[in-house]
Amino acid sequence: MYKTHTCGELRATHANQQVTLAGWVHRRRDHGGVIFLDLRDRYGIVQVTVNPDLSKESLDAVSNVRMEWVLQITGMVQKRPAGMQNPKMQTGEVEVIAQSVKVLNRAKTLPFLVSGENDLPDENTRLKYRYLDLRRERMTHNMILRHQVVKFMRDFLDQYNFVEIETPILFKATPEGARDYLVPSRLYPGQFYALPQSPQQLKQLLMVAGMDRYFQIARCFRDEDLRGDRQPEFTQLDLEMSFVQRDDVLALVEQLYTELISAITPHKRLLSSPWPRFSYREVLERYGTDKPDLRFGMELIDVSDIFAKSDFRVFQSAIEAGGVIKCIVAPGCAEYSRKEVDALTESARALGAKGLATLAVTSEGLKGTAAKFVTPEEAEAVKSKTGAQEGDLILVAADQRAVVNKVLGGLRLIFRDRLDLADPNMLAFGWVVDFPMFAWNEEEGKWDAEHHPFTMPQLDDLPKFETNPGEILSDAYDMVCNGYEMASGSIRIHRSDIQLKVFELLGLRGDEIEQKFGHMLEAFDYGAPPHGGMAPGIDRLVMLLADEPNIREVIAFPKNQTGRDVMADAPSEVEPKQLKELHIQIRE
Ligand code: AMO
Ligand code: AMP
Repeated sequence: MYKTHTCGELRATHANQQVTLAGWVHRRRDHGGVIFLDLRDRYGIVQVTVNPDLSKESLDAVSNVRMEWVLQITGMVQKRPAGMQNPKMQTGEVEVIAQSVKVLNRAKTLPFLVSGENDLPDENTRLKYRYLDLRRERMTHNMILRHQVVKFMRDFLDQYNFVEIETPILFKATPEGARDYLVPSRLYPGQFYALPQSPQQLKQLLMVAGMDRYFQIARCFRDEDLRGDRQPEFTQLDLEMSFVQRDDVLALVEQLYTELISAITPHKRLLSSPWPRFSYREVLERYGTDKPDLRFGMELIDVSDIFAKSDFRVFQSAIEAGGVIKCIVAPGCAEYSRKEVDALTESARALGAKGLATLAVTSEGLKGTAAKFVTPEEAEAVKSKTGAQEGDLILVAADQRAVVNKVLGGLRLIFRDRLDLADPNMLAFGWVVDFPMFAWNEEEGKWDAEHHPFTMPQLDDLPKFETNPGEILSDAYDMVCNGYEMASGSIRIHRSDIQLKVFELLGLRGDEIEQKFGHMLEAFDYGAPPHGGMAPGIDRLVMLLADEPNIREVIAFPKNQTGRDVMADAPSEVEPKQLKELHIQIRE
């Protein structure tokens, strides 16, 4: 071993011990003869003092040393004199008095400072030199946190009889609503593997295989537009259980997350335990989204009844068109200027609104863009239904229900950030259940699966396949937290007749069904047990636990915002010979 101790572990109890350390030069300070080096490894930083009485060899080595050089240092641990301790450093009670210094490797001047948390370069530079970026304390912490989270999951599930099983990466398309990444086959010209969008089919086949309880820390691949909480490859805690109903799956995962958070990030608080449950319909009505941030109120309130007979043309026409009038109350915002209200209206338009009406509750009655159209009776009714107080601003949207929910749900988040309504150390988990089974795809004029086609429709709704598929509910569920979708899952179809019905409703032809999913239908005919499962996103969980704004910060080597690996420069062109072997010709 190059070292006897880590830089981060030295404390006063190590005083008067000889230690050998190996690490990077974090900082260097020269004090006329005496040189102080902060030596860093993954475990922390310790101050090394190099006095001018060292051997010539060691002094020569130190004289050239610059930031991020790799050194091996042997020395005596010494308590720092009173008044010289550094309470900001974990090792601040001690210093290491160097006896010998050896340079293990040099470093060029770095493109950015590892020690400078505050003056970071742009993200592409960080990603190009990710191995340097990961040396930074915050990033090292994120990687270790991620490891702890995954280890906790593995240990927890092991206790409950889950078996970790790897499933293939080279497989056949598994629809999860994104495009597939395809891998051309050399041996079978013109044929392709698809990288799994999730191990969905395979975990169900493992249930048919009698494995009963499966999990996997599973990499998923989806060719879709990138966002802060989306990467083309990401990791799920994929799990599946046999002979369970919805509440069995929810209870297990709720317990896992509750215990995980108290063990790994005890400074985070859960808003409620047990977690609240909402139907899909309820959550849209109250929060305007199926992934609500439950840390604060400001719920959407339906005021259609109050304005049913309004003289205001905007309200009238929305109601006549079968729409609704809903509002949110922004506390203490009654004094918003014209400019601020205009900016909100612009945000509402960007979310799909035709406009935004405001009612400011003031000591002189209602003010705002809609005030002159509101009768005194309507004003009283609105105040009483919304609970708006003097000083509050009521924002009203009138349109089709889906538009109104989206607009007010979006404005709610704008106010969350602006008024600082959500505590970053609060984790507001909740479950959303009773999703619709199908969603009408306007563009393609067909039904899509709202979750995925293997989800069990609620059995009472089976007759609606023939009459009104849009009203069929499914046994699907989502876990939400702080405005993110954290996990999805469902009870699955285990009968080939129901599975076939779903494929047919989704517009798949008989030969297509056979070609794409014949293996699933066949498996269901060999004694498939009732089963269900879930897949929590690990990147999103670690992002929230680490207080990071996006999942790239908790992935060692993520793609950038345009889907490139800027470190290795991928995707990139390949040798013509490789293309030929793969029977691929590039056409301009
Ligand atoms: P779903 O597609 O909803 O369900 O994905 C489950 C969870 O995975 C995470 N996630 C992502 N994280 C980062 N980047 C992405 N591009 C990305 N896409 C999804 C989210 C999401 O909630 N097979 C089903 C699960 C099941 O039914 O058991 C599935 O994959 O946290
Ligand atoms: P207009 O008559 O279009 O100028 O609109 C009068 C006021 O109603 C303006 O403040 C608009 O922003 C607002 N408004 C317009 N359309 C809507 C709508 N669909 N919902 C709520 N307010 C609206």
